[in-house]
Amino acid sequence: MSQKLNSIAVLTSGGDAPGMNAAVRAVVRSAINKNIQVYGVRRGYNGLLTGEVVQMNLRSVSDIIHRGGTMLCTARSEEYNTPAGVKKAADYCRSLGVNGVVVIGGDGSFRGARDLSGAGIPCVGIPGTIDNDIACSEYTIGFDTAMNTALEMVDKIRDTAQSHDRCSVVEVMGRRCGDIALQTGIACGATAILVPEKPVDIDKMVVEKIINTKATGKRHFIVVVAEGVGHTEEIAKYIEEKTGIESRATILGHVQRGGSPTLRDRVVASAMGHHAVELLSSGIGDRVVALQEGKIVDLDITEALNMKRVFDEELYNIAMDVSI
Ligand code: F6P
Repeated sequence: MSQKLNSIAVLTSGGDAPGMNAAVRAVVRSAINKNIQVYGVRRGYNGLLTGEVVQMNLRSVSDIIHRGGTMLCTARSEEYNTPAGVKKAADYCRSLGVNGVVVIGGDGSFRGARDLSGAGIPCVGIPGTIDNDIACSEYTIGFDTAMNTALEMVDKIRDTAQSHDRCSVVEVMGRRCGDIALQTGIACGATAILVPEKPVDIDKMVVEKIINTKATGKRHFIVVVAEGVGHTEEIAKYIEEKTGIESRATILGHVQRGGSPTLRDRVVASAMGHHAVELLSSGIGDRVVALQEGKIVDLDITEALNMKRVFDEELYNIAMDVSI
């Protein structure tokens, strides 16, 4: 990128995540501090196709750091995912004088950022998704809040499971990634945790375990299932059939995507938003901001997209050892 950076745009794309607002706020304020004009793009990449953009000022992002959702709204855009859509979006950026875009979202959003960079508009991606499923980053904005929401819900479910000597099977979000299930499962003392990264054997991993722990005096049970494993209702029925313990299924769903972001999400989002603007203002685009070994770093977008996620085997083994 050789031209001087005059204006940038910021958008949120894909599923929302608590902390996205804190990232938008950091992008807007860091840019304005450098005398860079900022446009907020509404409804993800769609806003670059429909012209739904607003010029931001320091006060546009007041009173949002503690709010869940995204003030810019988000969407998944069919039209943008075509070469003609990408060209239209890039042309629109040029017409506004925008020569840098910050994209807050997951893998799909980063593919969009890579394409827009390819069409001549340098982009920087920030990982924002509750699933923690971005390979290049050990943390994604929203993960901590989602886990704490799930934990609060499971704690409530545990109260009623305890009162009734029941087994509660709770499904948490995570289509391809079991991180929410793993950490929530450990934190709520689940008897079994099922994640998509590991082969699932209900008889061995759940039924046998419940029967064995029941023999040690335990009378109520929590089983945490990641969305990617699915069949939560059937799992609950099967447990009841095989163990004779009354079982109930609860699918937590989108409650995990909302709510006020935790301190960790607000801080990581602020640092990542700031870093994204530092990159663009130094003439660096086509990058993804990430957290590695607790530090904010950045990587080439294509390299980041090609990385394979590593499941935390050590934590999984700890979970298996303590859930008896
Ligand atoms: O944000 C990630 C995620 O929550 C996944 O765990 C889930 O499968 C997906 O989004 C559902 O998103 P939506 O209901 O918005 O399509």
